[in-house]
Amino acid sequence: MAKRIGILTAGGDCPGLNATIRGVAKAMYQKMDNVEMVGIVDGYKGLIEGEAHEMKQSDFSGILTRGGTILGTARTPYSMMRVKENDVDKVALMKANYKKLKLDCLLTLGGNGTHKTANLLAQEGLHVIGLPKTIDNDIWGTDVTFGFHTAVDIGTEVVDRIHTTASSHKRVMVVEIMGNKAGWLTLYTGIAGGADIILIPEIPYNIKKVIKAVERRADRGSGFSVITVAEGAYSAAEAKLKKKERAEKRAKEGYTTATNRIAQEINAMTGFDTRVVVPGHFLRGGTPSSYDRVLASQFGVYAAELVSKGVFGVAVAEQNDKVTHNLLADVAGKTKFVPADNQMVATARSLGISFGD
Ligand code: F6P
Repeated sequence: MAKRIGILTAGGDCPGLNATIRGVAKAMYQKMDNVEMVGIVDGYKGLIEGEAHEMKQSDFSGILTRGGTILGTARTPYSMMRVKENDVDKVALMKANYKKLKLDCLLTLGGNGTHKTANLLAQEGLHVIGLPKTIDNDIWGTDVTFGFHTAVDIGTEVVDRIHTTASSHKRVMVVEIMGNKAGWLTLYTGIAGGADIILIPEIPYNIKKVIKAVERRADRGSGFSVITVAEGAYSAAEAKLKKKERAEKRAKEGYTTATNRIAQEINAMTGFDTRVVVPGHFLRGGTPSSYDRVLASQFGVYAAELVSKGVFGVAVAEQNDKVTHNLLADVAGKTKFVPADNQMVATARSLGISFGD
């Protein structure tokens, strides 16, 4: 049985990383006495640079509730992994350091980019297991990722508090929620917080429809509206542009995301007072919710089982309330978007929430 286990956290952090690390370690220590856990610092960067340290059983105590990651993390883009920089062959170095550290296997906790590199390393012959973290909940093949529900809770708290001030001042409040590609976090936060309008990348919006929804509320006597906008949302006109063209157009107009433009358009066309709120990384910080602590523990324990059975080249997942795994090769390079016929979208529509389409 594999006994020397490397573990790293890569990409953006999220609540639940430490709870997962703890879950793996606790389950491994239950299974065998002579387990050796090796913490790799700052994700793949640490594996490339050989920055790692042996961990003691006590290192995994008291971290269930701690936000962030005790191992540190960094963004090391997958697209650059096979590109030599200053003559540095990153893949060769990762393989060499895996060997040098005498690892029997490597556990990678991360999102889509992390899974792509995990698959690359698996194809290079390393024993790799991926664990799905991200507040975006956009990893293919799993119903849920750890970090997502904590971010939904935090986002909901933001929208709840925005509601009371929106109502007092009779304003249109536009709340930008993280999620560049997929709108899961904005969708769930919007429903949980009782937003009136939800704008996500999967459903390009028409500003006239957004304004109509605001005016309809005003006509019914609600002088305020709360709109949750995904960081990656775009208009139907922008949907016709290529990603690069869209970014260039926005740069010219002085915007990065659509949020400020939406607020300005609503103000210009209706005269309603508008404000923008961007909780940003607030959504990713702090202690994991009880849901995420449980999920992280389940995922960690399941990964330890895979290690003990010698099942590698896979990614842990949850499907229909059961923890399971997919092949890394199947997960890598895919994104789990909100499908147009998603039941949660239908639920929101039935509640009278507008998607601006
Ligand atoms: O990790 C996911 C995420 O939080 C996205 O929702 C967001 O677009 C991105 O990371 C922000 O990245 P960074 O922390 O590098 O600014």
